[in-house]
Amino acid sequence: MQIVTTIEELRSIVKWWRGEGHSVGLVPTMGYLHEGHKSLIEKAVSENGRVVVSDFVNPTQFGANEDLSTYPRDIDRDAALCEAAGADVIFHPTPEEMYAPDSCTFVDMDRLTKGLCGKTRPTHFCGVCTVVSKLFNIVTPDRAYFGQKDAQQLAVIRRMVRDLNFNIVIVGCPIVREQDGLAMSSRNTYLSEKERKAALVLHKSLTVGEELLHAGEKDAEKVKAAILKQIRTEPLARVDYVELVDAENLEPVKKIDGPILAALAVYIGKTRLIDNFSYAPET
Ligand code: PAF
Repeated sequence: MQIVTTIEELRSIVKWWRGEGHSVGLVPTMGYLHEGHKSLIEKAVSENGRVVVSDFVNPTQFGANEDLSTYPRDIDRDAALCEAAGADVIFHPTPEEMYAPDSCTFVDMDRLTKGLCGKTRPTHFCGVCTVVSKLFNIVTPDRAYFGQKDAQQLAVIRRMVRDLNFNIVIVGCPIVREQDGLAMSSRNTYLSEKERKAALVLHKSLTVGEELLHAGEKDAEKVKAAILKQIRTEPLARVDYVELVDAENLEPVKKIDGPILAALAVYIGKTRLIDNFSYAPET
């Protein structure tokens, strides 16, 4: 496995692979990889002749007061995980390689990016759409792999691919959890021991909501209230949002009569964590 830092070198490798008749899978990441990323890479390896993992902490998706400078980084550890998972190349560019100093072109989206995480992170999805478009143009993959943990991101990227006619199949992969239910995230490393325990309230509260839905509850407000009640049992938790939204357009729903996404963001101490589940009533 190779670590590649320039766009030019990556393009020539992909060209070589294409000449050999290989399909190409891309797993975009910001590094500090965990088992969740590993599951994406393994899926990509199982479905493509060659696999690129991008490992780039993308500055344009961080807001002014967010954790860009402290975001965890460890390329040696990432390289070992990628190699074990069967990736062929890690693309690990510098910010200067990805963005010219006078770069002024961005990919932005209406609607789907305004609610949920977009409320507290108004510039985040513009940064995500921009860097993912750039990665798509650099790697030109057949398939790209994203985790369902970032459910809004996945919906936004699917919509961007449709709207901008990228000829790429987007593969959504299930959330990978720790044994006690906490969704895996590079940001979990910010949590103290006490906060790590408190963070279990995210999954616990979603489970309460999911059980209500499976018991036949159709009123979104009631499900939301039950989730909020459970979160409020945890003194270290501060709710950013809890929402039940249409699975495709991410608009809030009142009545559960089609596929939905139940999503939340909760601060545990200073760390903002997200989690979600999808639900579709039986027809
Ligand atoms: O999900 C992430 O890690 C990032 O948002 C992504 C898709 C790699 C873009 O920087």
